Amino acid sequence: MRKDFLSVERLSQTFPDGAGGTLTVFENASFGIKKGEFVCILGHSGCGKSTIMNVLAGLAEPTSGVVKMDGMAVSGPSLDRGVVFQNYSLLPWLSALKNVTFGVKARYRDWSREKVVAHATKYLAMVGLEGDVIHRKPSQLSGGMRQRVSIARAFANQPKLLLLDEPFGALDALTRGTIQEELLKVWSQTEQTVFMITHDIDEAILLADRILLMTNGPFARVAESVEITLPRPRERTEIINHPNYYAIRNHLVQFLGKRSKELAGQRSGGESQSPETVRIDMTTTTTDPEPAPTPTLLKAVNT
Ligand SMILES: Nc1ncnc2c1ncn2[C@@H]1O[C@H](COP(=O)(O)OP(=O)(O)OP(=O)(O)O)[C@@H](O)[C@H]1O
Ligand SMILES: [Mg+2]
Repeated sequence: MRKDFLSVERLSQTFPDGAGGTLTVFENASFGIKKGEFVCILGHSGCGKSTIMNVLAGLAEPTSGVVKMDGMAVSGPSLDRGVVFQNYSLLPWLSALKNVTFGVKARYRDWSREKVVAHATKYLAMVGLEGDVIHRKPSQLSGGMRQRVSIARAFANQPKLLLLDEPFGALDALTRGTIQEELLKVWSQTEQTVFMITHDIDEAILLADRILLMTNGPFARVAESVEITLPRPRERTEIINHPNYYAIRNHLVQFLGKRSKELAGQRSGGESQSPETVRIDMTTTTTDPEPAPTPTLLKAVNT
């Protein structure tokens, strides 16, 4: 078994609740991510997804616990971790190209100007931005184009870990679909490790190797790690015909609709809380003369 590239160990976060008490968002949360994995996290609003991501990014300190990347504790922001926020956060006075070259120059200080521009242009092309459009400022771009620039910027810096907080939340369904495909293309070409927050179940199934499911807060838990047993490359119009698709989707809908509430508020009792691994595979066939698909729902506790 491959060693975890990112390991989250007994992470707890409390905040003042505004009424003189404390709010425990999550307690003793533990999980790992392998190198090159694409992991999505799903959970109801307010359960603590962004809080976890800010800690992974090094933008916030947890109340207790540690995050290790490549065996080293994460402390403070780093160019090794790229973040894409929902609101794009591009520099408004710079063109699309310069928004990308800005970070590349900081990361690769010994590169020539030509090399930096060629590198940035390549990543912009990967997300479908080519020609004159890359010389426009963010205010002259559509929302979808701006989001493409922020994805190109994050990937161009070649961070070891890419953190995406609902990056497509503000986009219409068509643009969202196109950019999801571009994200998959860039990810498959770069083999970067991705941790992405989303509210969209279908988006998570299309993109992820694994989906982490969080219970409602307070005392939220990453309760399950659901393997997405769908072959790659994935096409949105084709994966829906795979026997595993609706089985996985139903499991996720059930969790978010029901079990996330039932499991809410359970204290950790001081124990490290690791998610249960859930593997749903409806393609396993028996050796009967008339082979029938046998659904297997395999649940194993992560060790
Ligand atoms: N700096 C802070 N001070 C106090 N409370 C906070 C702070 N940041 C977050 N919280 C609280 O922690 C909880 C988790 O917030 P968080 O933003 O992580 O949720 P989320 O899962 O990302 O939700 P959403 O899906 O709506 O983005 C919420 O109850 C929120 O009010
Ligand atoms: Mg959030």
